[in-house]
Amino acid sequence: MSAGSGGLSRGGPGGQVGGAAGTAPRTVFGHLEPYAGDPILSLNAAFQADPRPDKVNLSIGIYFDDAGRIPVLDCVRRAEAQMLEESGPKPYLPIEGSAAMRKAVQGLLFGAGHEAVASGRVATLQTVGSSGGLRVGADFIRRWLPGAQVWISDPSWDNHRAMFEGAGLAVHAYPYYDAATGGVRLDAMRDTLAGLPAGSIVLLHACCHNPTGVDLSRAQWEALVPLLRERGLIPYLDLAYQGYGDGIEEDAFALRLLAAAGLTFFVANSFSKSMSVYGERAGALSVVCADRAEAELVLGQLKATVRRNYSSPSIHAAGIVARVLADPVLRASWEADVAAMRSRIQAMRRALHGVLAAKRPGRDFRYFLTQRGMFSYTGLAAAQVDRLREEFGVYLVRSGRICVAGLNSGNVERTAAAIAAVVA
Ligand code: LMR
Repeated sequence: MSAGSGGLSRGGPGGQVGGAAGTAPRTVFGHLEPYAGDPILSLNAAFQADPRPDKVNLSIGIYFDDAGRIPVLDCVRRAEAQMLEESGPKPYLPIEGSAAMRKAVQGLLFGAGHEAVASGRVATLQTVGSSGGLRVGADFIRRWLPGAQVWISDPSWDNHRAMFEGAGLAVHAYPYYDAATGGVRLDAMRDTLAGLPAGSIVLLHACCHNPTGVDLSRAQWEALVPLLRERGLIPYLDLAYQGYGDGIEEDAFALRLLAAAGLTFFVANSFSKSMSVYGERAGALSVVCADRAEAELVLGQLKATVRRNYSSPSIHAAGIVARVLADPVLRASWEADVAAMRSRIQAMRRALHGVLAAKRPGRDFRYFLTQRGMFSYTGLAAAQVDRLREEFGVYLVRSGRICVAGLNSGNVERTAAAIAAVVA
């Protein structure tokens, strides 16, 4: 670099650089703000570091089996064995990911022979988890739908706001959870959505709302669709827990409803929880468009976004998902495992409710039975959450959300006793 170019010049030992003449030397990164950590992932890390043997992890949205382990599903093990057997070169996947996986994802989401898929108006790409899909979609919105603002539910997954804001979009909240009734503030939600400018992005949880576990009923989804259409709003569905609500097919209800209504929308879906392949980062982003020509344009610009970010997704994740979904034997095994995981969570909900209802008869804990998916929103205050962690080794996020899938027959009673103690 030539003198006077305006760039930083390297200073003395320790990597110090000189600023403008007369200013004190400083290091390149000394001005950075420390990262406060992610509220969910940091808590999970704190749990791992806790030496207490009877600690309980209800912090992160991960399914643990009754022995407290992350299961390796038989279908995944067998898919991986096949992949090892056929082991060959590992080229880059295309930017949009594996064709076999993308096709399998479309079948899973929309159902066999769906008009939207058959007519080619769905642009699907394999992404780095559904988080990667959410972010690629956010970058695409920022570039191609200028001025569009994003509306997320109050409350929502902590990272939704950060992710869309990180893409440079303005993020607002619409009313959703009703703490008084434990239901949805449907009228207030509809009123807010009815006042949004056309083209606003409305982030909706397709099933198993994170963090509350409170979903829209089918009738409520049906009532929402005309509003979304008349106002020209663009739904963005997050489908991270397919199969944990009512079933794999049943949990696709909302997205199939939107597709049948002819809406243009985004859906980011994940296999992390449903196939128990968290670290594989297996997900997809689909955009349902007006017609094939539009879908091709959208896919092209999504590919441009991916190329600028991480270039292409993982071949291993694609291999697992495509095989499990396409092979009838592996598929049947997967569906049975998802059903078993779902019913174990429901059993834990009943067990937790049973102990708490007996210990604190004056208090209504029925929400544990009606909320769906991995999460329950307990209404515990941050101070009660802190007590649970400090005194009892029970970890949950400070919003009061618990991951019910962290309960098992060995810890549910003492967890319930701990909750009963802090609500006393
Ligand atoms: C959660 O909400 O706990 C999960 O989706 C994991 C995560 O990345 O936050």
